Amino acid sequence: MAPRPLLPRERAPRGSGRLLSTSLMVLVALLVPTLVVFSFMRSLPDTRAHFTTHNARGASGASRAAARSGPHLGQPLFGDKGVDASVLAAAGEQRDAAAGRGRSGGAAHERRSLEIGGAIMRNGKQQQEGQLGSEEQPQAGAPTSPSNAEGGQGGEGRPKSPPPLHVTEMRKQQAAQQRADDAAAAQRKQQAGTQAEQATRQQQQQAARQQQAARQQQRQQQQKQLQLQQQAADEEEDAPPVKKPHHWPSTLLQGKGSPIPRPSCWDRQPTKQCREWKGRGECDSRPGFMYSNCADTCGLCQTVYLHGAEVAQQVELVRGVVMPMVGYGTAGLTDLTADAVFTAIRVGYRLVDSAGAREWYREDLVGWGWSASGIKREHLFITSKIHPRHHGYWTVLEAFSEALQDLQTDYVDLMLLHYPECWPELCGDVKPESSWKDSWAALEQLIKEKKLRAAGVSNFNLEQMQELLEIAEIKPAVLQANSDVLRQDWELQLFCKRHSIQFQAYSSLGGQWLMQTQGTWNPILEHPELTQIARAHNKTTAQVALRWALQHGQAVVPRTTKVNRMEENLALFTFDLTDAEMQRLDALDGTQPVVPGDPGAGAAGAGGAGGGGGSGAAAGGGAAAGGGAAAGGATATQRRTARRRAALSLPH
Ligand SMILES: NC(=O)c1ccc[n+]([C@@H]2O[C@H](COP(=O)([O-])OP(=O)(O)OC[C@H]3O[C@@H](n4cnc5c(N)ncnc54)[C@H](OP(=O)(O)O)[C@@H]3O)[C@@H](O)[C@H]2O)c1
Repeated sequence: MAPRPLLPRERAPRGSGRLLSTSLMVLVALLVPTLVVFSFMRSLPDTRAHFTTHNARGASGASRAAARSGPHLGQPLFGDKGVDASVLAAAGEQRDAAAGRGRSGGAAHERRSLEIGGAIMRNGKQQQEGQLGSEEQPQAGAPTSPSNAEGGQGGEGRPKSPPPLHVTEMRKQQAAQQRADDAAAAQRKQQAGTQAEQATRQQQQQAARQQQAARQQQRQQQQKQLQLQQQAADEEEDAPPVKKPHHWPSTLLQGKGSPIPRPSCWDRQPTKQCREWKGRGECDSRPGFMYSNCADTCGLCQTVYLHGAEVAQQVELVRGVVMPMVGYGTAGLTDLTADAVFTAIRVGYRLVDSAGAREWYREDLVGWGWSASGIKREHLFITSKIHPRHHGYWTVLEAFSEALQDLQTDYVDLMLLHYPECWPELCGDVKPESSWKDSWAALEQLIKEKKLRAAGVSNFNLEQMQELLEIAEIKPAVLQANSDVLRQDWELQLFCKRHSIQFQAYSSLGGQWLMQTQGTWNPILEHPELTQIARAHNKTTAQVALRWALQHGQAVVPRTTKVNRMEENLALFTFDLTDAEMQRLDALDGTQPVVPGDPGAGAAGAGGAGGGGGSGAAAGGGAAAGGGAAAGGATATQRRTARRRAALSLPH
């Protein structure tokens, strides 16, 4: 499309157009230089901005942080009440003067001026920090304007131009000095702290060293103690083993005095033969034969008597099972058994000897007697015995259960096999289930079940004892056998000592003799030797007989129905038989009883008092004399003596 031509009325007049062109040219001519000058001015560097940035780097803390964030433009270096130019000038002059006086001599001045400078800086810094804390930080590279650089609140007293160069230098040095001072102060503080810490640490170390030394000393003492113990143990191991019987007091085997030869002890076989047998070990393997025939060669002809405190009141059979050496026998008490046991316990007996054999014992009444006495079960030692008709494993277990029922207890302290065998008068047609060996196995089982505390045997001879030792898993603790001054059975006693078995004598007061004489007389309690010795000690013959047994290491179980005799038979630890008296009584072994009233009996007693060994001969003489009197006279005494002899089948 062709442009529309201008209308005539729209065209400008020629004269006015020229004037307009001229005016424009003049205007351009004026504007161009102005713009050039303005551009030049803008290209000049901004020294205020440079100074501000530089000064901000010299500040510390928040100011330095602010400086790091970029040029801090538009902030005043000093506050409204800041140091004015005259102060700065004075500080500058001082520093100049100090510098003029030389470095070496002007340190104090420099410090003072630096302090002043520091004060200035601090003052300014405070101002600056105060402002920094309340103002927003401008972004680096933000457009700078004169109003920003100088503006803000309160522009009074601010320098209008950058500070002189030496002031800037001075501030740098002051700032450096300030930093050095701060560092030194911090170091001093640190040192002080370090010294305190060091002192504390030293104290702690010293205390630790002391503790360590104490611990070490303690350890050394413990080690030394252990070494000593070890040394003692080693020495003990090195020492030759001392055979200590587990229940036999060492004093019983050793005694205080020297061994005394037994008067009736010698080799009945030729000594040469005995030595040969002994060399083959026969003394141990066949004690029955050897003890009887080669007693001296087997080393049995020496005895040791116990005296004073050596005579034990109780003995430890096995670990923890302690048995009184004097007990109360209950055989033959029949219906009196309960009352007698009750009384005996009240008197002070702590061992009751019983048995399941109804022929002689009432075990059921023993149970009633002890339980009525009020004594605690653990304070009483109960011995019972298995009847020989019950020999055998199962029958013994049954018999034991019956014993528990009769005795009103749930355990027995000591159970003995009453006899190794049964005989027709005792067992009749009853045949035992088995032998005593199975019975022993049953007792061992009862011990394992803790129904029985200790086991033993009664009336076993040497061979049977030897056999028992060979088969027993649990060794017998006690052998109960008959022993009195006239039938001492010392072979069995010595066997028991050699094998740490407690020998317990029954019928020590002549109960077996009484049975033979149908209770007519007691050859033990009326024996002249015992009577004389008893008189010498102001004791009864019963006490002498029992004391003699105790001084040989025997346990005893006397029986009586009388309370005063019960007490008497317990009072055995307040007197002592001399060795000579013991020898005199030992010498009665195997002799015939002496009948009292026999004309020879008095002579026998007198002769016996003169020395050991005399009584046996005197007794024999007495018997002969008695026989003669009986034959030739007819007095009442002689007739009684004759009856007594007859009762014992003694020669007339
Ligand atoms: N395992 C066995 O095979 C077996 C065999 C027999 C005996 N034992 C046990 O051993 C016990 C004791 O034996 P034992 O009964 O034969 O009798 P014993 O104790 O040897 O003697 C008893 C006799 O001595 C008299 N007597 C007791 N003390 C006396 C004293 N201080 N003064 C004067 N006379 C006194 C008694 O008379 P009074 O009563 O009038 O005082 C009684 O006549 C038995 O009871 C029994 O437990 C066991």
